[in-house]
Amino acid sequence: MPQGAHRPQAYLCRRFTPGVEAALRERYGLRVNEDDSILSRDQIVRAAQGAQVLFVTATEPINADVLRSLAGTLRYVATLSVGHDHIDLAAAHELGIQVLHTPDVLSVACSEIAMMLMLNACRRAYEADRLVRSGQWHGWSPTQLLGKGLAGRRAAIFGMGRIGREIAARARAFGMEIHYHNRRRLPPDQEGGAVYHASLAGLLRVADVLVIAAPGAPQLKGVINADAIALMPPQSVLVNISRGDLVDDDALIAALESRRLFAAGLDVFANEPRIDARYRGLDNVFLSPHIGSATLETRDAMGWLLIDGLDALYRGSKPGNLLEPR
Ligand code: DGY
Repeated sequence: MPQGAHRPQAYLCRRFTPGVEAALRERYGLRVNEDDSILSRDQIVRAAQGAQVLFVTATEPINADVLRSLAGTLRYVATLSVGHDHIDLAAAHELGIQVLHTPDVLSVACSEIAMMLMLNACRRAYEADRLVRSGQWHGWSPTQLLGKGLAGRRAAIFGMGRIGREIAARARAFGMEIHYHNRRRLPPDQEGGAVYHASLAGLLRVADVLVIAAPGAPQLKGVINADAIALMPPQSVLVNISRGDLVDDDALIAALESRRLFAAGLDVFANEPRIDARYRGLDNVFLSPHIGSATLETRDAMGWLLIDGLDALYRGSKPGNLLEPR
């Protein structure tokens, strides 16, 4: 890794954890978006001129125009996310720009958030919290805030990748029966006894609790629409930790309003942070602001995965977190 005056120039679009930023400053001539605001494409292009490395997150849409505008000097885009639907990978590869992401190190943290959403949706945590805070709680009652237990219910995991498998392990420990849908069936050691459904429709029919953990992709946009929700058992629960645009908001909101679905737990939304305002008025949805990987140790590990990957690329070797052309 070049040191001193020969350090490569890099631009950091969002603030990373202090330890990771310190390590980046040792390696790069680092310019930083100090106030951590979400930058427009034009702002990114202006700020990152001359950079060899562009550090981004899922809030930065790195399309072909951005890449072309920076291609003179830009060699690497490093995203602090496992998801990479915000980056035009085909354009990057065409321009000879390599893209790194952060798989594996966030799987446990994301699976914990899936469990948080499942429990909070099933056990009516938003209503429970509000009741206590409001001063309107008049004491224990046999029929107060009756929810749904997880034990004995079917967890239907759409997207049984690394995160999906961590969710399965935790849901199993809660006594749930695990079902999943992937394009391809997993080998038995990864399946861990889970029931495979070759079609999404097959999975939806048994989904007492649907957990969306499939990677974001244009072809999956709106896949959980009114027809899909109609296949789910009455009074079932939907949890989304993937990308908001996999779910059709109109369909989900209608199903929550009519109580066709018992509840939902959402960590991701279409058009973040300008979410569909109707969610705010619903009692039977538990909302969290895209915090799947938000623990200090996980964000540190994600940052270090990018640092180590870039060090490897500068040494001429290929790191495991390099995204290959499809
Ligand atoms: C990811 O890593 O893809 C998370 O959703 C944060 O962007």
